[in-house]
Order: sequence, then structure tokens, then C-alpha cells
Amino acid sequence: MNITAEQERLIVIGILKKMNVSDDDASIVADVTVDADLKGFSSHGIGRFPQYIKGLKAGTIDPEAEISIDNETVSMALLNGNHKFGHVVTYTAMEIAIEKAKETGMGVVGVHNSNHFGVAGYYSDMAIMQDMVGIVVANTEPAVAPIGGKEPIIGTNPIAIGIPSNSHYVSVDMATSASARGKLLEAKRKGEKIPENVALDVDGNPTIDPEAALKGSILPFGAHKGYALSFMIEILAGPLVRAAFGRQVTGTANPEKMCTKGDLVMALDPSKFSNIDTFKGEVDDFISEVKSSGNVFIPGDMEVRNIKDRKENGIAIDNQLMEEIVEIANELSFDLDKILDN
Ligand SMILES: NC(=O)c1ccc[n+]([C@@H]2O[C@H](COP(=O)([O-])OP(=O)(O)OC[C@H]3O[C@@H](n4cnc5c(N)ncnc54)[C@H](O)[C@@H]3O)[C@@H](O)[C@H]2O)c1
Repeated sequence: MNITAEQERLIVIGILKKMNVSDDDASIVADVTVDADLKGFSSHGIGRFPQYIKGLKAGTIDPEAEISIDNETVSMALLNGNHKFGHVVTYTAMEIAIEKAKETGMGVVGVHNSNHFGVAGYYSDMAIMQDMVGIVVANTEPAVAPIGGKEPIIGTNPIAIGIPSNSHYVSVDMATSASARGKLLEAKRKGEKIPENVALDVDGNPTIDPEAALKGSILPFGAHKGYALSFMIEILAGPLVRAAFGRQVTGTANPEKMCTKGDLVMALDPSKFSNIDTFKGEVDDFISEVKSSGNVFIPGDMEVRNIKDRKENGIAIDNQLMEEIVEIANELSFDLDKILDN
């Protein structure tokens, strides 16, 4: 079935409030979740919601935790999320990064003791909305084998970069693995195969079976270059921010374990490097130059196209996912029909 963005928002907020999540925090989680589904990143939208419910039940997500600041200077901060919702912690980190960038031209904020945050691009969008460049990287529990190996040691380590422009939404938001792990989980749930050249089974052989891939490893995107980039992100979102790295990273896919991943978010203020209008004008000129070269997309076009489609046609929820949501709602005596019937 298809649901509207507003129905999805109300479902997420309503269920989270039943689980003692505050209005403000539930609203952030819902915004990020709906953003993912509207942009077409269904691997990180409401499909991940049952994982968060399991995390709340297991106590690996603590709705009442307070975020604390370990260390802070004029241009950087290191946050301890104390295992609050990852969405709320990274949202707070980007808010701080933007405030610092307004002062100094740049703000860099590291995060540890957090949780899975959904889509990285939501947080770089926060910077775009303030006419700033936003950059977000994070590590995850191991899923990718280094080139030449077959054992997963590196995460799917997402990277998002958002750039303000007058004419377009300019954003790249992607895993540094050939596929996000969420896409494998989604394929498994839907009983679908995964594309070729995406994953290896436990023996290091190519597979199109999502279950075998989840037991084995995902390939890095772009061969050695993706591996090298992912390796670097593992360190920027690991040791640099006092988070775990490699095999020690837990809790991003398995909510039963405390989450030990980290994030690094950055905001850069173009007005401190150049004039903001000149900067955005040049970004527009570059987009025009690229677009005039053929039938090409720029990073962010896919999201814009998907948002238009989902707003017109709704967000698809497969039967298995709907069953899981109904089960969660029933357990919490949450009236799902009241939302779905409207
Ligand atoms: N929270 C986590 O731990 C975690 C981990 C991994 C991934 N993720 C999220 O998963 C989501 C999906 O990642 P993915 O790797 O599957 O994304 P993807 O492979 O669909 O790539 C998406 C990016 O590529 C751009 N793109 C697509 N086609 C293009 C074209 N022809 N020309 C130019 N640009 C183009 C899109 O605009 C988009 O920004 C992301 O939102 C990411 O943040 C989260």
C-alpha cells in the first residue's frame, strides 16, 4: 500500500510518543524518516523504524538521555550522545556546527555514543538551508571487506555533501559501499534479488542473494577508490571522534547491541570565503555548464525527482513492513487505523 508523507510522520511520532520519546525528539526522527522515503532512500526510511523500536525496547536507544559536550573550541566540538536517538544527536551536532560556522567560517562537530541516524543527507541539508556547505560522514558496523579480503571490517560509511545554489538542490548522499546495507535488508524483506557486482558471500564468491550477502560482505563502490575513501571515513568517524572503528563498531544494524559508531559533521560558510551571491551564482553557472553537456543529472536531481513522485503518488510500504508496523502499533495500543483511514 501507499501512504502519504503526513501519514508516515504521524505514525512515527505517535508510536515514538507511546515509547516515552519527547515531542521534539519524535518530530526530528519523523522528519528524517519521511525525508528518506520522499527522496527515494527507502532503505533508510520507515523500513528502519522496527529496528529503532527494537533499540528502544532493548535499551540501546535511551529516549531520556541528555547529550553532553566532551570538548569544545570556537570552531569544533565533540559530543557524547549518551545513546540518545542518533537522529537527534546528529541534528544537534549540525546545529552546533552551523552556529560555529556563522562565527568562524567553519564548524566541525564529532559525535560518539550515538545511534543509527537514518540518511546522512538530512543533516547536510540543514547547512544548505542556512546558505552553508554541509558535510556529514559516519561509520557503521562492519559490512565491507577491504579489497583483497573477504571478511567485513569496514562499515558502509555514508558521506553526504550539500551545497547551496539558487537554481538547484545540490547534494550527494550515499554509502561508500556498492550498496547501502539497508538495500540488502529491504531486498531480503521483499524476497527480491540484489544486483550483480554488489556483494560477496562468506566464501568471497559473488552473490545476488541478499541473505548470503548479509552473511558475507558488501563490495566497496568504485573498486579501490571506494575502499580507500571508506577506510578514511572509518578513521574520521572513529578514532578522531572517540568512537569505535573496524570490528569494534556495533549497534548500527543490530539494535540489541550498544551502538559504538561515530559521526563527523561540518558546516562551511561560503560568505567567509567569498561573497555568498557570487558563490551561489558560480554554482548555478557550473550546473548550467554540466547540464548543457548532454542529458545529465547533477547530484541531488534524483532526490528532487523522487520527492515530486512520492508527494504525488505516496510512499510505498510493502506487506511485510506493514505487518511489522501493525504489530508494533497493536502492542502499544496505538490506533493506526485512525491515521490510515484519513
Ligand atoms: N545511517 C547509516 O549508517 C547509513 C549507512 C549507509 C548509507 N546510508 C544512507 O543510505 C542512503 C542510500 O545510499 P546509497 O549509496 O544507496 O545511495 P545511491 O547509490 O542511491 O546514491 C545516491 C546519490 O547519488 C546521486 N546520483 C544518483 N544518480 C546520479 C546521476 N546519474 N548523476 C549524479 N548523481 C547521481 C543521488 O543524487 C544521490 O545523492 C543514503 O541516504 C545514505 O546516507 C546511511
